[in-house]
Amino acid sequence: VGSRLIGCGSAVPSCVISNDDLSVVVDTSDEWIMSRTGIRRRRILSGDESLTDLAVESSRRALEMANVAPSEVDLVLLCTSTPEDMFGSACKVQAAIGATNSIAFDITAACSGFVLGLVTATRFIRGGGYKNVLVVGADALSRYVDWTDRGTCILFGDGSGAVVVQAAEDGSDGLLGFDLRSDGNGGRHLKLPILTGRCVNGSNTGGVGGGEGGGGGIAVGKDQEGHIGSEFFPSPSDLHCKTLEMNGRDVFRFAVRAVPEALEAAMEEAGLTPGLIDWLLLHQANQRILDSVAATLRIPQERVISNLIDYGNTSAASIPLALDEAVRSGQIKPGHVVATAGFGAGLTWASAIIRW
Ligand code: ACO
Repeated sequence: VGSRLIGCGSAVPSCVISNDDLSVVVDTSDEWIMSRTGIRRRRILSGDESLTDLAVESSRRALEMANVAPSEVDLVLLCTSTPEDMFGSACKVQAAIGATNSIAFDITAACSGFVLGLVTATRFIRGGGYKNVLVVGADALSRYVDWTDRGTCILFGDGSGAVVVQAAEDGSDGLLGFDLRSDGNGGRHLKLPILTGRCVNGSNTGGVGGGEGGGGGIAVGKDQEGHIGSEFFPSPSDLHCKTLEMNGRDVFRFAVRAVPEALEAAMEEAGLTPGLIDWLLLHQANQRILDSVAATLRIPQERVISNLIDYGNTSAASIPLALDEAVRSGQIKPGHVVATAGFGAGLTWASAIIRW
């Protein structure tokens, strides 16, 4: 069984924050942000808007384009690192769109999440028993950045994008090749520790969330004599999220080195060379990263899709959001070959060559 991409959709919050708006809160300027990142504005959730609202809206649009009824969806994959519930938000999306016959779960892989979701969808379809898979990339990093840190808060925005992948009995293939990689050793360069907590018996080395990247750790256990008491368990006030931490330069260096390698591997699997790719559509992190990857692969600027000027880095949403805009504007046409790659926290990086 082959697979085809038959629909896409996207949704962004209504609130627009420009670089000039940001320069009122932190010591920065439109000129600095544009020249270093290519970002001019971003959308962020406000009021009652939620990540689920965006995911639901983008899903509805993708299903409509695909002409697939919610009841025909077999699997909902919500690729997000910012769910509203630690148990995941995929089921909430599933219920809201009325995909009553589907199984739903989250995929957490930061900015690589959408490509991993796409490959997972295709694997489920190829394995048999799944006909229509909805892959949603949605993130709301505005909720987790430190808005006093000019090194990170200027980069991120919120959004959602979705695609419908359908089984193709004629064997046609929407996913021509892919390459997936992880390196936890580099995880320290980009992290969002979930738990911070108190020390227990003067030690904060063990327990849930402990160790490097765990944000201090909450130790639960017994004292030296083997006694256990309420003081050994964290209280709700001990549990809270830290903000996103990033070594921008290291992440930049990692991306410009690793992404071209992953794309070359995926192209090789697809039996294609850069000259045969219609569009390069990367995770929208930084215009200089996009330019560098395109230059390394000798893909000319006019074949690079970029919309980060309007949305910033929307993490798992950035690829399907840019894909949806390019499809609806007529840039990407049926049959076009798109080389895509996500990269970011984990570290993770994932490339895929898709036929629209
Ligand atoms: N405005 C003005 N000045 C600033 C700002 C700002 N917003 N931010 C940093 N600076 C200053 C710094 O303080 C520094 O000043 P100094 O030289 O006096 O010390 C100077 O500008 C240079 O700082 P760098 O951090 O070296 O700037 P760089 O050119 O590396 O750009 C950036 C920083 C834009 C963050 C870049 O490193 C980058 O884009 N990295 C990749 C980040 C990324 O894509 N991360 C997401 C991955 S996706 C995911 O999984 C979430």
